[in-house]
Amino acid sequence: MKYEKEINRRKTFAIISHPDAGKTTLTEKLLLFGGAIQTAGAVKSNKIKKHATSDFMEIERQRGISVATSVMTFEYQDMLINLLDTPGHKDFAEDTYRTLTAVDSVILVVDSVNGVEDQTRRLMEVCRMRDTPVIVFINKMDRDGKGRFDLLEEIEKELHISLHPMTWPINSGKEFKGVYNLHDKGLRLFTASTKADDEDTIAIEDLSSALLDEKVGQRDADQLREDVELIDGVYGELDAAAYLQGKIAPVFFGSAVNNFGVKEMLDTFIRIAPGPQDRETSLRKVTVDEDKFSGFIFKIHANLDPKHRDRIAFMRVCTGRFERNKYYHHVRLDKDIRFSNPYSFLARSKDVIEDAYAGDVVGLFDTGNFKIGDTLTEGENFYFTGIPTFSPEIFKELVNKDPMKTKQLEKGISQLTDEGVAQLFTQFGGNKKIIGCVGELQFEVIQYRLLQEYGAACEFRTLPFYKACWLTCNDSRKLEDFLRFKQQNSAADKDGLPVYLAQSEWFLNTEITNNPDIKFHFTSEVHRG
Ligand code: G4P
Repeated sequence: MKYEKEINRRKTFAIISHPDAGKTTLTEKLLLFGGAIQTAGAVKSNKIKKHATSDFMEIERQRGISVATSVMTFEYQDMLINLLDTPGHKDFAEDTYRTLTAVDSVILVVDSVNGVEDQTRRLMEVCRMRDTPVIVFINKMDRDGKGRFDLLEEIEKELHISLHPMTWPINSGKEFKGVYNLHDKGLRLFTASTKADDEDTIAIEDLSSALLDEKVGQRDADQLREDVELIDGVYGELDAAAYLQGKIAPVFFGSAVNNFGVKEMLDTFIRIAPGPQDRETSLRKVTVDEDKFSGFIFKIHANLDPKHRDRIAFMRVCTGRFERNKYYHHVRLDKDIRFSNPYSFLARSKDVIEDAYAGDVVGLFDTGNFKIGDTLTEGENFYFTGIPTFSPEIFKELVNKDPMKTKQLEKGISQLTDEGVAQLFTQFGGNKKIIGCVGELQFEVIQYRLLQEYGAACEFRTLPFYKACWLTCNDSRKLEDFLRFKQQNSAADKDGLPVYLAQSEWFLNTEITNNPDIKFHFTSEVHRG
């Protein structure tokens, strides 16, 4: 492999969590370790503030800022780490799901007080679809949280993944004394200082050592001995292969805000997390040792400033080396294009780059050439697969308020849906346009952008649907009959694929039972080759 050295030093991952579990705080600490930022608070200021939920312009403004931090690249122990940011706001969950298609592993943050929450569950479901390797960080150990064994049990049960503790906490809350590193056999005592040096670790090879009692007191020392004996008996050594297959998740305990337990996790991450992986395409499996470049677009960010209409398409490089000013094949459009100003996201300098390697994410200025899932190659015609579209959760009819601007409205909605802001469905046998989104906020965004960017005024009429299911059936007549019979609930998605819009879970289950020949899918591939 021509670029072996460069590719082997890359690790591309995302931190995911339910809002408020500590994703931003942990990100910041990792960047501090990587020397990518100098002061605490640098990342924080870019965070979408939870109180601004009603003001989407403010959120978009902050999202604008966060484009710059969408990918944070830093070096740590000679490795080049690409950390992909995912929006914290639940209305942008779809963005997060797509970002997960561009990473090779994730770190999942769980709040020790709240345990597994809604978003934790859903994000893990998405990880499971691709068997993404997961490391779990149980955060906020400085607060009185759930019992540690209870937490492990809850996570295993709710997230359907086996855990493997790598560090073990000594108490929590006010009594939190530190963590014992089960792998390196070192004790780190809790301090609220945010500096974490290796010198702070006390080597305790033998847990029966009196040093342990001296450091944490006899009661806690005995408890730790008991816990570790139990853990060793149950878990043994970490099965690294099972981690890479997404079957076992190593677990760390800590407190992100105090930078406690973070270094242990980062050091393990560097050691075990996967680099760029082989990927499936519509044609064949593309292996990471191929020299030729290939990549795909997983996110498009539009500039809300009317003076700068350009969009930024985020491309994940999957194989080989991407070069500035070289022509690449845009598979869907069947044309060759080159990029004179691709840029990288090195947290220190957001610069135009000359090249990038498998694992990297490149920002491409886009004037409307791209939609989510588009593939670029050196000439071969394939699409990367496994980039799913998820069912929206809120459905509204798009009502044109200005018939003179119908064309603009059509163009606008087509481009916005290419960007992945929303999904567009057309009611079966009619013309009704149905917009599906994950959150209410997107409707505001669409209305605003259609008016500002395309001069088209619209309003929305709420529809009583709760889920869209893509339909397939071996017998096309049966499918047609179903669509005709259920006309009120049938639609075509943007690519013309048949979709059933369910009013409720009950209706959906009834239809599934009554139509055994028809398959109801909850996701759809962006490209089907
Ligand atoms: P998010 O990105 O996942 O939404 O979470 P974020 O890092 O913003 O953290 C949410 C809140 O939890 C923040 O407090 C943060 O300071 C706090 N936090 C993070 N890690 C820990 C921890 O280890 N222990 C404790 N006790 N708290 C932690 P906030 O009050 O919402 O914000 P701020 O005023 O501190 O900035």
